[in-house]
Amino acid sequence: MADIEGLREAKDVKISGTGSAAGFHLKGSAHLDWGMKNRMSRIIKPDTGRTVMLAVDHGYFQGPTSGLEVMEKTLEPLIPYADCLMLTRGILRTSVPPGCQTPIVLRVSGGQSVLTELSNETWNVDVDDCIRLNAAGMAFSIYVGAQHEHQTLVAFSDLIDAGYAAGIPVLAVTAVGREMARDARYLSLSSRIAAEMGANIVKTYYCQNFTKVTGTCPVPIVMAGGKKLPELEALEMAFKAVSEGAVGVDMGRNIFQSDSPVGMIKAVRAVVHCNEKPKTALKIYEDEKKTSKAPKVKAKASRPKSRK
Ligand code: R5P
Repeated sequence: MADIEGLREAKDVKISGTGSAAGFHLKGSAHLDWGMKNRMSRIIKPDTGRTVMLAVDHGYFQGPTSGLEVMEKTLEPLIPYADCLMLTRGILRTSVPPGCQTPIVLRVSGGQSVLTELSNETWNVDVDDCIRLNAAGMAFSIYVGAQHEHQTLVAFSDLIDAGYAAGIPVLAVTAVGREMARDARYLSLSSRIAAEMGANIVKTYYCQNFTKVTGTCPVPIVMAGGKKLPELEALEMAFKAVSEGAVGVDMGRNIFQSDSPVGMIKAVRAVVHCNEKPKTALKIYEDEKKTSKAPKVKAKASRPKSRK
């Protein structure tokens, strides 16, 4: 039984001010519940308000992807530098050590393959499983303007309801699809629709006049990487995206298909978290590449001392 003798009287009171728990570092998120905010903060870091998400979910519709053939091999060196991993539950369960402390945004849409119509996708992972897997967020693709637009938007609304019920934020992936125009008009349309429907984070592509996309979307935007570019170009794109309002990147191929994935993710981190200029960040990538390719100096085998 608790000792009730000698209890000290409560004296410290607070009658004005907001307190440190009141502020929140992300736009559109101030009124979320504590669990949602806590998960958002695991995905998008409070100290910089930015994130480097590593997207490795490509296999859910395109099977083994160059750079992702053996997931453990790709992930092991990159996990320490990723703020968050975006992947499928199949890869999480088979290829990520459960001791991993990196937050997970779980891909919860699918149902099609690269051989068929890409937009024919729906919600395919129960929120109970996301809770079981300790997901920090759930990622879902919406196909605005595509053949199955309606189906994806309706399923997205159901996911948003489930996300709020469980306190798990939803990241909307927009503008994926073969014939989607990737200009400010289309990207702002699809990002805004995602946010209006309740998305907590939006992932979209960089484009000319990107501030039209970030500035008309009431929730944080992360930039999608897209196809593999020369490293400097990818860093320039990331730099422009964060300078023009993105809270970071959710990048895949431009990291894991680089000839130095660790060098590239370190360089991307420098751009995203430290506003490093692309050419300076490129040097981080180049240095890492040199170091990892340098032949390891073999330690001289020590000879056993001859006995006299
Ligand atoms: C797209 O539907 C998936 O979320 C991809 O994993 C992601 O957008 C691809 O990343 P990246 O284009 O940077 O390889």
